[in-house]
Amino acid sequence: MSKNGTTIGLGIAGFGTVGAGVWNVLARNGGLISERAGGALKFEIRRIVVRDPEKVREAAAPADLFTTDWQSMVADPGVEVVVELIGGTDVAYELVAAALMAGKPVVTGNKALLAERGADLFELSRKHDVPIHFEAAVAGGIPIIKAVQESLVSNRIDSIAGIINGTSNYILMRMTEAELDYPDALKEAKELGYAELDETLDVNGWDAAHKAILLGTLAHGFPIDPEEVYVRGIEYVRPLDIRFAKNLGYVVKLLCIVREHEDGSIEIRTQPSFIPKTHILASVNDVFNAVAVRGDGVGDSLFYGRGAGQDPTASSVVADLVEAGRFLRQASEGGHRGFLPYREQGVIKPIDETETAYYVRFPVTDRPGVVADIASLLAGAGIGISGTHSPVDPDEPDAEFVDMVFLLHTCPFGTLKGALKKIEALDCVTERPVVFRIESL
Ligand code: HSE
Repeated sequence: MSKNGTTIGLGIAGFGTVGAGVWNVLARNGGLISERAGGALKFEIRRIVVRDPEKVREAAAPADLFTTDWQSMVADPGVEVVVELIGGTDVAYELVAAALMAGKPVVTGNKALLAERGADLFELSRKHDVPIHFEAAVAGGIPIIKAVQESLVSNRIDSIAGIINGTSNYILMRMTEAELDYPDALKEAKELGYAELDETLDVNGWDAAHKAILLGTLAHGFPIDPEEVYVRGIEYVRPLDIRFAKNLGYVVKLLCIVREHEDGSIEIRTQPSFIPKTHILASVNDVFNAVAVRGDGVGDSLFYGRGAGQDPTASSVVADLVEAGRFLRQASEGGHRGFLPYREQGVIKPIDETETAYYVRFPVTDRPGVVADIASLLAGAGIGISGTHSPVDPDEPDAEFVDMVFLLHTCPFGTLKGALKKIEALDCVTERPVVFRIESL
């Protein structure tokens, strides 16, 4: 096919769930997509890079399209747009960089790659004047990248609050509704195919944090260094915490916050948090995602939908393919050179200066004076206590090891950390205290 023909040749690296989804969407809706792409644009997958060409796939792609050699796919003159769906940050980086240097638009859903190494790739995209699209990298099928980059471009983005990891949302929901403990809820999420094969990034908060970094970068105009982002996952959430939250009128969610402060600094963090059960984000269940954006013009807006899965994610990938196709065939200026920094550098608010109220659970050996000792160290740090509780197991009223829960008034996180360090040194505290923020959204 000539460069000027109407058919755009695609090379896909990675043909798992999402890659097969792209194949299926193009097969199912190719005609419609072509019409909507402003005329006769068609897409044809010409090369598929996989590790194991013999593996049974979820799409009926002919065997002769498969190769294990990504370099030859990128170099193939029939491949005009490169779709990167292999994940990871090493080979994926090489592959995307090679495509951009070869002048081929890239579509990727790889949030880790862009959050960790995006600055270099965006630079290459600008240098070679070739777009890189990544709608599928954040919140699967929800068009939040285009919303922030385009639809809300006239707004100063005051805050973004997101539930952007479906797996952890599902696990927390099952711990809440069915009172499962964490390992059982995780097992269920894996059996249902929600958690990634290696669920580490899903449950340790980093999958969500990578997405928050991308949103923060787009909203605030400077590349955000992952090392400056505070990230905690859901591995340490216990049914006790969930029950406690419920009794107080809260729900536990893995929440990402990106917030601009008056001094221009940006607060960015991901962690399990208590959110009021009346807040709209509290009703985001299952593997759904939601991103609440507050702009100075638009006010509050909410983007809700499927944040993972074959068809939703393929929906975003194919939308990006259409944009890449328009760039190639219709000389559109619309192709994003990834992200164009407009602030030399921004300031991330030190996590110790960020403030909320807190729920803290202390695993302790129960002895007389435990509560008094903890309370006195909190008081010494100037931290107010709004409630305490020690759930008693009716079958074991004299249990030796218990959890003491303290609800604390709003204070800087650094002040809390200082107090916790002293409390952890008490002989009665058996494990690290577990902290949840109580968010007022
Ligand atoms: N595994 C992710 C989730 C989807 O559960 O939301 C891909 O980032």
